[in-house]
Amino acid sequence: MQSAIDTPLDIQKIRQDFPVLDQEVNGRPLVYFDNAATNQKPLPVIHALTRYYEGYNANIHRGIHHLAELATAAFEASRRAIQEFLNAKYWQEIIFTYGTTDGINLVAQSYGRRFLTEGDEIIISTMEHHSNIVPWQMLCEEKGCVLKVIPVDDNGELLLDEYEKLLSERTKLVACVHVSNSLGTINPVKTIIDKAHAVGALVLIDGAQASSHLDLDVQALDADFYVLSAHKLYGPTGMGVLYGKKEILDSMPPYRGGGEMIKEVTFAKTTYNDLPYKFEAGTPNIADVVAVKTALEYMANLGKENIATHEHDLLQYATEQLTTLDGLRIIGQAKEKIGVISFVMDGIHHQDIGVILDQQGIAVRTGHHCTMPLMQRFGIAGTTRASFAVYNTRDEVDRLIMGLRRVQKMML
Ligand code: ALA
Repeated sequence: MQSAIDTPLDIQKIRQDFPVLDQEVNGRPLVYFDNAATNQKPLPVIHALTRYYEGYNANIHRGIHHLAELATAAFEASRRAIQEFLNAKYWQEIIFTYGTTDGINLVAQSYGRRFLTEGDEIIISTMEHHSNIVPWQMLCEEKGCVLKVIPVDDNGELLLDEYEKLLSERTKLVACVHVSNSLGTINPVKTIIDKAHAVGALVLIDGAQASSHLDLDVQALDADFYVLSAHKLYGPTGMGVLYGKKEILDSMPPYRGGGEMIKEVTFAKTTYNDLPYKFEAGTPNIADVVAVKTALEYMANLGKENIATHEHDLLQYATEQLTTLDGLRIIGQAKEKIGVISFVMDGIHHQDIGVILDQQGIAVRTGHHCTMPLMQRFGIAGTTRASFAVYNTRDEVDRLIMGLRRVQKMML
């Protein structure tokens, strides 16, 4: 059975767009449940990359020749596509980065170093990925700022009352994940942003996990910064986006120096380029930026709502099925979740679970998922995590359950 819900999506047909899925691993058909780490790429995206390299590879913004013009036009068309995807007001608010981590580091190093001073407070949450913890710790170490942390409850939901208690006029920045990569929790980011703005703080939202599952609207959210990675959006690795409000980005100094981010260079003085180029020093990841537009079109054709509905069905089905296994505990039972399920099993180490599942052709992620403080909060070393994408099916969830029964038989 591919789906119990009424969906216009033909999942078997969609699977044909993803050649990587059509293979055996350890003698069994691959079940790919590691989509929160990176999802697979459909043929149109792969073709966009080869079309670029076969047809119009050239450096952008620099040449006046035909190929350079084609490459520049495609690169800038992607910027407009991302602008539309995020509903940003201005195309200049879209900065291409190398990924979510790069975007957060840019804000910490540029905005943070320029505008934060000793005693200023930065609020993050317990469920942050290391990429939304460490850059702020580095900044705090350098500038003498103070890091405060919003706690989570046993279901893996943020304690908003505690958040309110942390906010004060000393709060200068709140950096919070939209959707937890380890638990799947969808955070009430609009509330988080509004409360931060009420004390005059700016807010950065880490949208790495949210971007392929939720409708995004940075203007409706009133986010000051929103960061994401293309490779979690059925696009290529090594490419991401920093959205920032124009007036804030304008006030920030460049993060990296080099070609393209300048207006004029003399040995006496350099003047910087306008947005967004001020933050895009050096030759960017042109092919991958070009291909991300195709990834967005691919998702739009399927319909983000349809994708979300299908993934939600898989989440519900997998949750029901997993609870039939003795000694299995789901970590993260928030009311609002995307298709991510983390769990632990009595008496069995997550690494053993991952290895035995892999022997059966089932790919999951095991460990702390780059969220060590969150694991500490739950008193565990790590979890096994299954995460779903549009091409997954209920039959594959059944394979996971059978695989876990086999793990129990072998290990207990
Ligand atoms: N952040 C990615 C994950 O959750 C790599 O697996």
